[in-house]
Amino acid sequence: MSARAPSKQFNLTSTDFGTGFSWGISTAAYQNEGAHNIDGKGPSIWDTFTQKKGTIYKAQNGQTACDFFHRYKADILLLKEMNIPNFRFSLAWSRLLPKGYGHISPQGVDFYNRVIDFCLECGIRPWITLYHWDLPQALEDHGGWMNRDILGWFEDYVKLCASLFGDRVTHWMVLNEPMVFTGAGYFLGVHAPGKKGLKSFLPAVHHATLCQAIGGKVVRGLVPNAEVGTTFSCSQINAFSEKSKDIRAAQKADVLLNRLFIEPALGLGYPSEDLPILKRLDSFKKEGDDQKLLFDFDFIGIQNYTREVVKHSYTVPYLHAKIVPATDRPVKTTLMDWEVHPPSIYNMIAKFNAYSNIPKIIVTENGAAFSDNIRNGAVHDPERLGYLQQYLYQVHKAQQDGYKVSGYFAWTFTDNFEWAEGYFPRFGLVYTDFPSQRRIIKSSGKWYRDFLGNVP
Ligand code: NOJ
Repeated sequence: MSARAPSKQFNLTSTDFGTGFSWGISTAAYQNEGAHNIDGKGPSIWDTFTQKKGTIYKAQNGQTACDFFHRYKADILLLKEMNIPNFRFSLAWSRLLPKGYGHISPQGVDFYNRVIDFCLECGIRPWITLYHWDLPQALEDHGGWMNRDILGWFEDYVKLCASLFGDRVTHWMVLNEPMVFTGAGYFLGVHAPGKKGLKSFLPAVHHATLCQAIGGKVVRGLVPNAEVGTTFSCSQINAFSEKSKDIRAAQKADVLLNRLFIEPALGLGYPSEDLPILKRLDSFKKEGDDQKLLFDFDFIGIQNYTREVVKHSYTVPYLHAKIVPATDRPVKTTLMDWEVHPPSIYNMIAKFNAYSNIPKIIVTENGAAFSDNIRNGAVHDPERLGYLQQYLYQVHKAQQDGYKVSGYFAWTFTDNFEWAEGYFPRFGLVYTDFPSQRRIIKSSGKWYRDFLGNVP
């Protein structure tokens, strides 16, 4: 599973990836919309979590973010100017259902109708993520992802979205990176809602995996021509050494970071053979659940940024594995302290291709945070440009080597609220000057625009 290094000079065009390849850019509601309490929107767990002391870099929050709520027209026009044919964004559950269920906010419905309609008017296809981490706070007050009632809340929410927007939206993703929102939010406590430990993590995992399938089935049932998918975070994992303990540690990290959510959807069950602690998920199962975890997605989205190097550790409970920080290794890193390792995207495409029953694989996120500065009104970002080109080279190489991969979405459109890291890491292809909300297309964005210029 290794891939050649990229050529120094990137000379691919978007047409080299074939017709029917979906090019796009991805965003998420809480990171982008702002208007956190406008027009009847209810609070989400991120509205609450960001108000707690010590949770977010410089105590920042997404109350205003990029103010996409008020600026969506100008932003969508900018997408058009950048030749971006597919725009992936998420719906804020509590904008549509302020309490998570029951009362529907007509203003919330109206907002997403306007966004969808304007995308279509501009010739841009909307791709909707149903859940990108901003659970309505009212549901968290009842236990959130730990409460099995979420199966019903989520089903009703997806039914509402599919029936409201399914006449115009064909491309749907159920969950965004379930491993991250359960791991960071319900095990490590570093993301909303800030819960810690296995007792919150395990039920959250089981309920999220069930909802992943439930959401898929609802969309399939209500939107006749739907392309239904869901997205997974994934990282290439390497053992720190050839020692069997390190190799075993790397395998366990692979289960947790790459296999936990996809395998039950494919009918393979939870990968507890390779990570025995996952057997404890059984205590949350009800009769018939194994069957309910299955769903035949039309595509899966994979989201890769980096690779991890893993070594054995006695001190980490259950896993006995720990990540060797990229900053302790002699490698290039981004502002997130993530290693820049282009072959990781090739290897992840290959890894997911090895499952026999995935019809389509699309890279639904890839990108990098580097420090950006405005000089003479322009933002020159050669490191991000190099990153995107090197990763794209590997996507193309994977395709050439016969692996299926039929889309690429860059993360992200405008610099936005990067969760616990606040506004510090800028991932955008477009610079956001937050005080004025002015947008400046970075040189990477101009390159992407020109690269996409010839998409048929
Ligand atoms: C994955 C998440 O989906 C997105 O919300 C986040 O901003 C990026 N990765 C970068 O960390």
